[in-house]
Amino acid sequence: VRILLVSSEVAPFAKTGGLGDVSAALPRALRALGHEVRVVAPFYQRVRTSGRAFERVLPPSEITLGAHRYTFSVLASELPGSDVPVLFVDCPALYDRASIYTEDPDEHRRFALLSWAALKLCQYQQWAPDVVHANDWQTALLPLMLQTVFAWDRLFERTRSVLTIHNIGHQGAFPASILPDTGLADAASSFHQDQLRGGRLNYLLTGILYANAITTVSPTYAREITTVEHGVGLDPFLRARRDVLFGILNGIDPGEWSPERDMRIPFRFSRDDLANKERDKEALMSAMKLPYVRGVPVIGIVSRLVWQKGFELCDAVLPTLLARRDVQVVVLGSGEGRYEELFARLARQHPRKLAFHRGFSEPLAHLIEAGADMFLMPSRYEPCGLNQMYSLAYGTVPIVHATGGLADTVRTWDARTGEGNGFAFEHFDASGLAWALGYALETWNRREQWARLQQNGMRDDFSWTRRVRAYEELYRAIAPG
Ligand code: ADP
Ligand code: GLC
Repeated sequence: VRILLVSSEVAPFAKTGGLGDVSAALPRALRALGHEVRVVAPFYQRVRTSGRAFERVLPPSEITLGAHRYTFSVLASELPGSDVPVLFVDCPALYDRASIYTEDPDEHRRFALLSWAALKLCQYQQWAPDVVHANDWQTALLPLMLQTVFAWDRLFERTRSVLTIHNIGHQGAFPASILPDTGLADAASSFHQDQLRGGRLNYLLTGILYANAITTVSPTYAREITTVEHGVGLDPFLRARRDVLFGILNGIDPGEWSPERDMRIPFRFSRDDLANKERDKEALMSAMKLPYVRGVPVIGIVSRLVWQKGFELCDAVLPTLLARRDVQVVVLGSGEGRYEELFARLARQHPRKLAFHRGFSEPLAHLIEAGADMFLMPSRYEPCGLNQMYSLAYGTVPIVHATGGLADTVRTWDARTGEGNGFAFEHFDASGLAWALGYALETWNRREQWARLQQNGMRDDFSWTRRVRAYEELYRAIAPG
């Protein structure tokens, strides 16, 4: 199958969260099965200054979006560790900025252009994809483009589209007056009409209406988003397309996240010998400037610090925990001020027990996964979540809210049967989190139980090598002949 995957993030070039990991790992895994895959992403400032080499594959071209005329070209590189081409849309006027996402007034044009450029590049190279795989609102206009403005081109005659929803909390909803800026004014009749009548033009909804298949990143989240509670207004449309909505769990890229091979951590280890995990813990504590105390459990957090991730619960639970129990916490993340302030305050109040590193650091994220004993994700909602899977692979026991992909991957420890790989609380409230942390600390003290719990998690196989088959099947099912 020939697949064009278009995404606003692709690791290691540009990543703010899990989308970046998935947009690299899935293409790599598809390639390993012999498929022909190309990835298209924006040439952000951080990509330009990354020191990598790029080759120009498309001469400067023009696109007009409403009253705005843009010149772009395309620069090619490869996904490290594979021969998958990554095609970067170079449009300095839109992408040469300090952040990947912005609140700038042209945000809707930044990503409309990405989709336009991806299809124009196919035309220029006369490369006909069987499947165009769009991801989240940023690229959700692609299915409509294929069925309207690009439909006349026989190149795309056999092209089908897949839209993956990584997070329904972000929909790309703009005032209806931006319609001309999408470049799709001629297709106005194809947009959801309520949107155009004084409403908001919603990129993600447009993708939901026109994609040949819709996927999301875990089976539980696929069910959740069809409900009023989790659908963020799009649930009726998802219910209407239920027959083509699939939940496919994300995987782990074993080349990036495995304790046996991870070159970003000081000491590698495996399920059969966890001695080095303790040495990584020492290294972690020294990196975070906390005292290392043998036998005291360390809880790790690596996250975007945003509402979705549920850290309000930490505000209610961590102060008592830190005051009363022998436990240490290391936090890596950045985001909204209120959460950054929460962790900064806890670090000031408990300088020997909690350390907060504000920022984004790939090496520190790996060191936390390797060196921590437990990993905390109290997410309010979580489409898939990758860190709990990374944690399981590293023998770091996840403590999570049972929602979305967290519910699909973490099974609460049962001391009676010796089953389970972590701790999952059902109700999103302080007592739920307090219960899970209390149960985890109690189990920590029963060393044999803990060892079994770690082994259970390390034996789980969440690698892409397995997951990729579900995408392969889906592509084959929608591609004609
Ligand atoms: P989301 O995509 O909602 O942020 P995921 O769990 O799917 O959640 O993926 C988060 C990814 O981003 C993981 O690879 C995680 O390690 C990484 N990450 C998040 N915050 C940071 C940070 N501050 N520093 C380094 N990596 C981070
Ligand atoms: C989103 C979700 C996260 C998921 C990631 C990759 O950012 O918040 O749960 O793992 O996308 O699909």
